[in-house]
Amino acid sequence: MQRNPVAKLLLFGATGDLARRMLLPSLFGLHADGLLPEGLAIIGSARTDHDDAKFRDFAKQALDEFLSDDRKDESAIATFLDRLQYQAADLSDGKSFPALAKKVGDVAGGLAIYLSTAPSLFEAAITGLESVGLAGDTVRIGLEKPLGYDLASSREINDAVAVAFPEDRTYRIDHYLGKETVQNILALRFGNSFFEPVWNARGIDNVQITIAETVGLEERAGYYEGAGALRDMVQNHILQLLALVAMEPPARFDGTAIRDEKAKLFRSLRLMTPEEVPHCTVTGQYEEGASGGKIVGSYTGELGKPSATETFVAIKAHVDNWRWQGVPFYLRTGKRMAKRRSEIAIQFKPVPHSMFSGRGGLLQPNTLVIRLQPEEYVQLLVMAKEPGLDRDGVRLREVPLNLSLDAEFAGSRRRIAYERLLLDLIEGDQTLFVRRDEVEAQWAFVDAIREGWTANGTKPKGYASGSWGPSAAIALTERGGVTWQDD
Ligand code: BG6
Repeated sequence: MQRNPVAKLLLFGATGDLARRMLLPSLFGLHADGLLPEGLAIIGSARTDHDDAKFRDFAKQALDEFLSDDRKDESAIATFLDRLQYQAADLSDGKSFPALAKKVGDVAGGLAIYLSTAPSLFEAAITGLESVGLAGDTVRIGLEKPLGYDLASSREINDAVAVAFPEDRTYRIDHYLGKETVQNILALRFGNSFFEPVWNARGIDNVQITIAETVGLEERAGYYEGAGALRDMVQNHILQLLALVAMEPPARFDGTAIRDEKAKLFRSLRLMTPEEVPHCTVTGQYEEGASGGKIVGSYTGELGKPSATETFVAIKAHVDNWRWQGVPFYLRTGKRMAKRRSEIAIQFKPVPHSMFSGRGGLLQPNTLVIRLQPEEYVQLLVMAKEPGLDRDGVRLREVPLNLSLDAEFAGSRRRIAYERLLLDLIEGDQTLFVRRDEVEAQWAFVDAIREGWTANGTKPKGYASGSWGPSAAIALTERGGVTWQDD
């Protein structure tokens, strides 16, 4: 991979929550490890009326709050703050851009822009940047979600961006792709020979992908109420995980080969008809309950008004191609669930014939569990014989073959997903960014579900905070003879 680092980084949304929690600590992490290009200037921008000094204070506070103690190296923090500059700008106001261009200065050495803003501002932002020469050949742009709220609005945004930034200079962010464990799915599937022969409808019975969170609405009512779980988590993160699990083997580890395979997979997702949607999806909204040892309120209580927004969704999806014909992909995500957990469970087919049944031995089909967070491990659940003389029959038990990534790689620091993505943006590697054709196929799948909900007047079912969602989500899998992999 040829690196093509830029000399400047322009960060829109620089005083927002994402910047405080993730972007500034990530940039610092890269700086402290000597990974940022020598002399890279970081220019923050937002509506807040800061100057360079105030922005540095803001960044210092963010690092104090969000860096772990072992990363707080005062001299590295000081040299990091020296890189920071600030220019206030209102993206909806064309008059903001000349001052911005002046602050950024010459972009011949390359500029990476990171745009984290409401979708309604994209068009104005791109027009403004172009009008002051901040969109030329040496400039690339990173786009943070939400990139629209349906296929039509996502196309509009993509069209607006494409006017100034061709696809090879556009970096759409899905922070799940920056996670080490998510990239590990590729290593597991394509770095080992023994999975591939069974990685298809002959070997696999069903696939389950869960992203469960214990947090509720947090401070994001304005965004979340208009989004809901389907747009917030399924359209992007869950479908990206599905693609990595289900795509055909790419020929090379590069942006074109991997994204070609993911796009093909997204286009193979079966689009649900309005009649199918009630049988293949379940929506829920959290009510009062106990989460993380605390009594917590309902979604509508936190919101302060009635709402039909789903905070939980479960889906039975299908991939219509040769490899996956007939294999259900069960997807679910929710807020205020029983545990924080992101996990992929692959359930294999049972053995064709059990020689143990005559001797009382019961078999369970094998399961491969890829736990992405909070722990990082891969477990293969296999059958083993319990020790004993078998005089009362053979006793078999499911036991885990355990690969703990936490333990195996204990010596290496786990980076924040944004460290990887910001570095790739700065250096010009698109492999872990989402291409336009992927995003649009993802939206097509999600839109078909939403249309079904509208046509059927679907309202989310209540579920107690701290549970695994509405009971209908259990029925969704049980109807196919499958149980969610919960422990
Ligand atoms: C974001 C969603 O994209 O991902 C949030 O907008 C969600 O609602 C978050 O909480 C989850 O990310 P992670 O990395 O904590 O699993």
